[in-house]
Amino acid sequence: MPLLLSSWEIEAILRGESILSFDLGVTYDEYDVVRKGSVICVEDVFCMPVPVLKRASRKRGRVYEIVEEDGKFFLRHVAIRERHYYQLVQPHRGKPTTLEIDGIHMHRVKGADPYTDARMKVDALEVERGMFVWDTCGGLGYTTIFLLRSGAQVMTTEKDPNVLKLARINPWSREMWRADVRLADATRFVRNVPDESFNRILHDPPRFALAGELYSRDFYRELYRVLKPGGILYHYTGSPGRKRGRDVQRGVMRRLFEAGFRYLRREKRTEGVIAVKPSR
Ligand SMILES: C[S@@+](CC[C@H](N)C(=O)[O-])C[C@H]1O[C@@H](n2cnc3c(N)ncnc32)[C@H](O)[C@@H]1O
Repeated sequence: MPLLLSSWEIEAILRGESILSFDLGVTYDEYDVVRKGSVICVEDVFCMPVPVLKRASRKRGRVYEIVEEDGKFFLRHVAIRERHYYQLVQPHRGKPTTLEIDGIHMHRVKGADPYTDARMKVDALEVERGMFVWDTCGGLGYTTIFLLRSGAQVMTTEKDPNVLKLARINPWSREMWRADVRLADATRFVRNVPDESFNRILHDPPRFALAGELYSRDFYRELYRVLKPGGILYHYTGSPGRKRGRDVQRGVMRRLFEAGFRYLRREKRTEGVIAVKPSR
């Protein structure tokens, strides 16, 4: 596992604190922190110039990997710049990270930390031990982790290889790999899934404007088909445009109804919708 530091941890090092984490707060340990002139050494982990650490600490929430080359240590920003810009971000010291794609957080970070947010979504789904569950949009795997902790057998799909690359680095995602994780587009993947395969589906897509196909009636019909009778769907929607009087959930619930789902209700705590495939 790479050694990782967030801006928060670097601030703590600059303050001379000795209880530190090199896995973004999953575990903490005590280290000797020694300042020699303009260089700070953390035991035998690394030595780095103070100005380098100060510069890195100013980027709030940024995550860095400690890299060693020819006996010198560097901080490499954990980010991927391709068609989109991805970075792992830690909103608060010692708390779970989130994934930022083109500046948009993939988890709620205000009010609840990303783990709490994921746990609340899973709670809404009433999962029981041994159930088969599909987590359609894997991300950093936090909802998958709480599904696994509920005792479910979990299949997870994630379309973007860069997201899975960051999940591999992210210490908060470690438990995710106990699930059957597939690099796949959920809208294509579902076509090859046999009817009535899952007891539960957790659908936590990016916002509507970024992935309209994951909010379409055709996709909802497929979700309905692969759910077992009596199965439950949790669909995160968020509330984009609420201040402008927009109600995304209304349209989602209408299309879910048209796809066959019943007992539809808003799940206010998590800004989602619950839908049931009626038993025969
Ligand atoms: C809101 S995040 C999911 C967060 C995840 N539930 C967690 O707890 O970490 C949405 C994810 O859906 C992925 N995604 C977007 N379109 C997809 C598709 N068609 N199939 C599968 N995943 C998709 C994005 O790459 C992103 O990682």
